[in-house]
Amino acid sequence: MILVTGGAGFIGANFVLDWVEATGEPVLNLDALTYAGNLENLASLKDDPRHVFVHGDIADRALLDRLLADHRPRAVVNFAAESHVDRSIHGPGAFIKTNVEGTFTLLEAVRAHWLALDAAARASFRFLHVSTDEVYGSLGPGDPPFRETHPYEPNSPYSASKAASDHLVRAWHHTYGLPVLTTNCSNNYGPYHFPEKLIPLMIVNALAGKPLPVYGDGMQVRDWLYVKDHCSAIRTVLERGQPGQTYNVGGWNEKPNIEIVRSICALLDEMRPDPAGPYARLVKHVTDRPGHDRRYAIDASRIERELGWRPAETFETGIRKTVRWYLDHPDWVARVQSGAYRDWVDTNYAGRSTA
Ligand code: NAD
Ligand code: DAU
Repeated sequence: MILVTGGAGFIGANFVLDWVEATGEPVLNLDALTYAGNLENLASLKDDPRHVFVHGDIADRALLDRLLADHRPRAVVNFAAESHVDRSIHGPGAFIKTNVEGTFTLLEAVRAHWLALDAAARASFRFLHVSTDEVYGSLGPGDPPFRETHPYEPNSPYSASKAASDHLVRAWHHTYGLPVLTTNCSNNYGPYHFPEKLIPLMIVNALAGKPLPVYGDGMQVRDWLYVKDHCSAIRTVLERGQPGQTYNVGGWNEKPNIEIVRSICALLDEMRPDPAGPYARLVKHVTDRPGHDRRYAIDASRIERELGWRPAETFETGIRKTVRWYLDHPDWVARVQSGAYRDWVDTNYAGRSTA
């Protein structure tokens, strides 16, 4: 079996579902169930013996030692993290705790487990760390997309904490020989995306007739990847990646935020027309995110050239599936908008004036 951390969050849950369907191999899923973790995402695996869920923290060494000894996974995929840039600006402490200290504790526990394996199991063991393109910092309009050799220049507490975790993973390979793999992926979107992030926030706000808060001029550029393509990339890297190597993962899909918001509005106009008028009437430019990175773009040619992976979805096909999913899952959408969610919306948006 494999150990997945953070498998109740957005990408982790999509990965667990994808993994069990694609490989049939059991998953031990360790997740602290923070505000971002949701077991409802994994409801279809509820009585499936191939999914074993453990509620716990990657910073809990005793728990990790017990789980590794009891289940003897052949690989670890580390998704567990605090993942939202705006939350890292309001409260960076949790990001250091999980993304830096948690990754350190996990690496140490996994290293002890790996060292105790027999030679064949040790050679085939893998630790895959799921990271982000944000560690590379911000690009100018004419700069080439990030390659794996781009210097690390993180700008937010979130990206700095992820950069630190990437450095720890790298060092555990170079110093101790732990067979690690790192993936640096661009912005994901798709089913089970918590509505604090741009795409699901715009969908749920539009459906509720609420303002669509676009930071600043809305011309910040991101590269967007449908989450199931990220899952297939991770499976590919786990299977065929070179230990010690890093792989950029992206959708070849650079778009400014305002264009993303307009595409969502146009799809909703088609799929769920609002008698009050086109959804784009709800767009509001609001005070920008402090330190907002202007542009990310990923050059995903290494993973294509060396491992034969390319995304299956275009933005047009992926966003249509995503909007459909939100329209088809009103109960999930309603349940994730708990009191804590509403508190976060107040914290992040109440003080922003209309730009
Ligand atoms: P998410 O916030 O939706 O989920 C994170 C999960 O980790 C949650 O289930 C949460 O409960 C769990 N978790 C948090 N702290 C934990 C701890 N101390 N111990 C155990 N579990 C803990 O995040 P996501 O968007 O699914 O991102 C998953 C990973 O992918 C993160 O490492 C993130 O940096 C990376 N990533 C995300 C994106 C993106 O666009 N969302 C892109 C590239 C990389
Ligand atoms: O690039 C990969 C990263 O993508 C991941 O590592 C992060 O975990 C993930 O959260 C995401 O970070 P971003 O900051 O790019 O994603 P977010 O959805 O928060 O914002 C996308 C863009 O939209 C960004 O330029 C900020 C803007 N935005 C966001 C929100 C929430 C708005 O204009 N309005 C909003 O209300």
